[in-house]
Amino acid sequence: MSSSLQCIDCAQQYPVERVIYACESCGGTLDVAHDFTSTPAKITRALFDDRLGALDSPYSSGVWRFKELVYPDIDDGQIVTRGEGNTNLYQLPRIAAYVGVDALLLKHEGENPTGSFKDRGMTSGVTHARRLGMERVACASTGNTSASMASYAALAGMQGIIFLQNTAIALGKLAQGIAYGGTCLQINADFDRNMTLVRQVAERLGIYVLNSINPFRLEGQKTIMFEALQQLRWQVPDWIVVPGGNLGNSSAFGKALLEMHQIGLIDRLPRLAIVQAEGANPLYRHFAGGFRDFQPVKAETIATAIKIGDPVNLRKAIRALEWTGGVVEQVSDQLIMDAKAIVDSVGIGCEPASACSVAGTRKLVERGIIKRGDSVLGVLTGHVLKDPQATIGYHADDLPGIAPKLRNPMLSAEDDLEQIVALLA
Ligand code: F0G
Repeated sequence: MSSSLQCIDCAQQYPVERVIYACESCGGTLDVAHDFTSTPAKITRALFDDRLGALDSPYSSGVWRFKELVYPDIDDGQIVTRGEGNTNLYQLPRIAAYVGVDALLLKHEGENPTGSFKDRGMTSGVTHARRLGMERVACASTGNTSASMASYAALAGMQGIIFLQNTAIALGKLAQGIAYGGTCLQINADFDRNMTLVRQVAERLGIYVLNSINPFRLEGQKTIMFEALQQLRWQVPDWIVVPGGNLGNSSAFGKALLEMHQIGLIDRLPRLAIVQAEGANPLYRHFAGGFRDFQPVKAETIATAIKIGDPVNLRKAIRALEWTGGVVEQVSDQLIMDAKAIVDSVGIGCEPASACSVAGTRKLVERGIIKRGDSVLGVLTGHVLKDPQATIGYHADDLPGIAPKLRNPMLSAEDDLEQIVALLA
């Protein structure tokens, strides 16, 4: 066995077959710890570069291409995959100009099979669920985790149970959960409360939890960094910028970067910038207060994906910030929606939460923390089709509290040739 569960606080270890999400001695969150020295193949850049362009599963997946760093001893036949990952890294001068840097790259995780980065964590999480013999899996979700879980659970022949807040879910995500056959439970409680409820219900009924409190999820999400660095020919940018909600991605990025550095795939660590919405900013406040005395917040933001006030991966995200000399920024809903409109208008598009990467970079440049000459890699986490109401509402100037700066208003005309010609002339 080359992997075990390990508490991030007291280092207590458990076998990976144990169904636990917190350390039994101290309550700390758990990592999947790998012994990379015991994998049969030597882990080098060439090992992963040689698999680029693979036609067959599992190495055709942008997650399983890095199998030795994700889940070394799983049988290939057990893997539940949709060929996730392999997402584009865009270089977009207009967005670079908007944020105020010379070199900006955006990795679009909305190009995953269900339209968000969650697929990278769900392929590893559901694969582990299958290995454990689970028949029912569950999550609390602001929408993307649930869409992804419902898809992968369906593929694996499991029941996927979804705890949703009865308000504040984007329509595209809700539609996916229902379409993929998930058991959708709308609850009159916010995400943070649903997170507590799903863990309690799962314990009572023997259901496997697939939120990012599950460390196997984060192993798959590490591959956003592996793949991005591979696309950059293993040359490290100065900054990685990512939205922060439940802080699973930030945590996974920290672990991925540290492991790549320890193994020798990269020669230095980039700095991590985690960006939260002003109305859902518990990590930002904690960072600004020198990490003394954490206080959860009651979350409210138009970026419903990250409407989270009490993130479960707090300790792991702090660890990632410490490892990378990272920073935390907050951005207003106004800035989020204007940044989204820029990303959309160049023809790429993203959902509101994703635009935190662009909005946050702009703010960090304004504050002099990111320098114009720094190279920045931002992560776009979700697809533009996820939240049509936010997009249409912005361009119709119909969003409370938002004054759209980059409107593309709809035109309309009667069925009248002359009128249409006059309109477009
Ligand atoms: N961006 C999008 C589009 C998301 O859906 C999420 C999280 C985040 C960013 C934040 O990532 O939680 O790893 O810090 N969505 C979760 C969900 C909570 O239920 O879909 P994080």
